[in-house]
Amino acid sequence: MRNFDEPFLIEFPKLGNSHLGYISVSEKENLPFVPKRIYWTYYTPEEVERGGHSHYDLQQILVAVAGKIIVTTELLNGEKQEFILEKPNIGLFIPKMCWRTMKYNHNAVQMCIASLEYDEKDYIRDYEKFLEKK
Ligand code: TYD
Repeated sequence: MRNFDEPFLIEFPKLGNSHLGYISVSEKENLPFVPKRIYWTYYTPEEVERGGHSHYDLQQILVAVAGKIIVTTELLNGEKQEFILEKPNIGLFIPKMCWRTMKYNHNAVQMCIASLEYDEKDYIRDYEKFLEKK
């Protein structure tokens, strides 16, 4: 049984070939949650670090649909990990209460599949406040 308290990589099906190109699809049955929102970020300058927050309830899946993204995660148990996303058929599940940062190469496009609607009250943007939740 998958542990939804930790980050993990998801490999989406990849159909096609190098002559025709590829398609990746995920039916909701194969996702850790039924998505309520999708957003994407792009043209992030290479010197900019995004993220720098955690969420009380939101779960997310990040996909580098183009380019390369370096994601760091930190859980309240102190476990820190670094993930490199650079394949369009690989996603990173980010659980609730997980501090994350992201850095992007110049052509990176990040798609985020989110479990909930946008709610600024669901964010913890202060790292010290995040650590206080231990
Ligand atoms: P944020 O989630 O902090 O971005 P990142 O994690 O990529 O650094 O969001 C950046 C800004 O965009 C913030 O001011 C809130 C706004 N925003 C919305 O209005 N709706 C959304 O669905 C999202 C994800 C962000």
